[in-house]
Amino acid sequence: MRSALLLLLLNRFTSAFQTAPKSVFRISSPRTHMFASTSGVVITGSAGGVGYAYADEFLRAGLPVVISDVKDCGPAVAALKMKHPNSQIYSTQCDVSNIDSVKALGAFAQEKLGTIKYWINNAGVNGGRRALSEVPYEQVELVVRVNLLGLLFCTKVAMEILSAQPGVTSHIFETVGSGVKGGGTPGYACYGATKRGLPQLVDSLKVSERALMKTRFTSH
Ligand SMILES: NC(=O)c1ccc[n+]([C@@H]2O[C@H](COP(=O)([O-])OP(=O)(O)OC[C@H]3O[C@@H](n4cnc5c(N)ncnc54)[C@H](O)[C@@H]3O)[C@@H](O)[C@H]2O)c1
Repeated sequence: MRSALLLLLLNRFTSAFQTAPKSVFRISSPRTHMFASTSGVVITGSAGGVGYAYADEFLRAGLPVVISDVKDCGPAVAALKMKHPNSQIYSTQCDVSNIDSVKALGAFAQEKLGTIKYWINNAGVNGGRRALSEVPYEQVELVVRVNLLGLLFCTKVAMEILSAQPGVTSHIFETVGSGVKGGGTPGYACYGATKRGLPQLVDSLKVSERALMKTRFTSH
C-alpha cells in the first residue's frame, strides 16, 4: 500500500512536469525534468513511513529535502545520510497542528532550501481502528487536528511562501487516504471524514488561488 502511494505521488510529479513551461525544464524526459530542479522539497511527518520513503526517493534523485516530524527526526536523518552521503538533507521538529510550529518549519525550509518546489503535506494519524463510540474524545480531536487542521495550517503557510517565489511554478500535495472517495470507512470514521474533505479543498484552491499564484494543488 505504501509503495503504491509512493508510485502514485511520483506519477503525479511526472505529469506536473509534463505541463511545466519548457523554459524552466530544459531536459526532455519528464522524469529527468522532475529531478533537474535545483530547488527543494518539504515533507511533513517524514521521520518514518511514507514520508520517509518520499524523502529517500527525492534524495536519490538529487533534490535537497527538508524532513520534519512531531517526533525526533534524528534516526531518519542518520539513515538517509548513510544511504545518500552527498545529499542535502535538513530536518526540524514540527507539530503540524500548531501554527507557530508550522510557521517555523516554513522559515527553516526557506532558509535551507532557498526555493521550495514541492511541499508535501504527508503527516497523518488514523487514531486506531475502532467504532467511533469507543474512541476517546482526545483521540477524535487528535485525528482532526493533525489530518485536517494541520494540513490547512501547512497549506496556508506553504502558499504564503510559494507565492513569494517569482517565476517559480511550485506544487502543494495533500495526502489522502481511506474515505477520500466516500462509501464509509468502518473503524476509521474520524480518519475517513478528514480525508473525504481533501478533494473538495483542492478543488476550491485550484479555483480560488490559481489566479493569485503559480502554485499547483494536488491530492494524492
Ligand atoms: N500507509 C498507508 O497504507 C497509507 C494509505 C493511504 C494514505 N496514507 C496516508 O499517508 C500519510 C502517511 O502515513 P503513514 O502510513 O506513513 O503513517 P505513519 O504513522 O507511518 O507516519 C506518519 C508520520 O506523521 C507523523 N505525525 C503524526 N502527528 C504529527 C504531527 N502533529 N505533526 C507532524 N507529524 C506528525 C508521525 O510521527 C509519523 O512519523 C498519512 O497522511 C496517511 O493518512 C497512508
